[in-house]
Amino acid sequence: MRYAGKVTVVTGGTKGIGEGCVRVFVREGSQVVFCARHAADGRKLAAELNQAGPGTATFMEADVSKVQDVKQLIEETVKKFGRIDCLINNAGWHPPHKPIDEFSVEEFRSLWELNVVSMFAACRFALPYLRKTRGNIINVSSLVGKMGQLHATTYVATKGAVTAFTKALAVDEAAHDVRVNSISPGNIYTPLWQEAIDAAPDPRKCRAEGDAAQLLGRMGTAEEAGLLCLYLAAEATFTTGVDHILSGGAELAYGRKTRK
Ligand SMILES: NC(=O)c1ccc[n+]([C@@H]2O[C@H](COP(=O)([O-])OP(=O)(O)OC[C@H]3O[C@@H](n4cnc5c(N)ncnc54)[C@H](O)[C@@H]3O)[C@@H](O)[C@H]2O)c1
Repeated sequence: MRYAGKVTVVTGGTKGIGEGCVRVFVREGSQVVFCARHAADGRKLAAELNQAGPGTATFMEADVSKVQDVKQLIEETVKKFGRIDCLINNAGWHPPHKPIDEFSVEEFRSLWELNVVSMFAACRFALPYLRKTRGNIINVSSLVGKMGQLHATTYVATKGAVTAFTKALAVDEAAHDVRVNSISPGNIYTPLWQEAIDAAPDPRKCRAEGDAAQLLGRMGTAEEAGLLCLYLAAEATFTTGVDHILSGGAELAYGRKTRK
């Protein structure tokens, strides 16, 4: 077991990449606390994983857009398990694609609260405990935070901020032996990706283009994202302030850029 006896907090752990992290960490012996807004999914996943072990899964209902919920998630975790070794800030959203003219300022603000402020708040509340365990933080950013993406100004801005914040926090927290890293997934097949497929005018074409965007010819899996996070938490002990691309080679080589 690669993370036995360690306590891990995962935000947004009922689906997709967060669920991948929860499954992998429990399988490697960690006591995992995860949150989401919908309690039914969370309780179901926790029951399944507690039966399988060897770690444990505890679900707490929380909307990370609400600072009070984030605070409670961290405090309840410490009350129940006495420590935190790893915080994975995963909860986030990619709104449907549209040009800047169709985004309101309010939409940008609310995405910023979800994708950036929630991460800041969770780090802020968890750090006093992470310093005691010399633990680590993993922020889920995105490849498009570096590359840009068509009709996704608000999302790309939030993920650029996640990567930059990660580096600045790593600089400060090194004094406490707390490592802070980010992962930047490219296309990982999750319910969020399926939403984009369903909303596309030609869903089959959308899925095929999603697969073809990678050198490896497929999207990544939530399990593969969980395994990268486990490596960062358990084994990458000399790694801090690094953004880890998980993309199947999507960003390499020239590709068609114009739509003409
Ligand atoms: N799937 C991809 O290709 C991809 C690529 C790059 C980055 N990401 C990032 O990875 C993270 C997870 O994406 P995903 O594709 O797994 O998404 P998803 O929609 O499949 O799952 C998101 C999870 O977060 C939870 N969540 C959403 N809003 C929440 C809130 N306000 N409070 C608490 N929980 C909330 C959901 O319940 C769910 O468990 C996001 O930050 C996303 O931006 C995803």
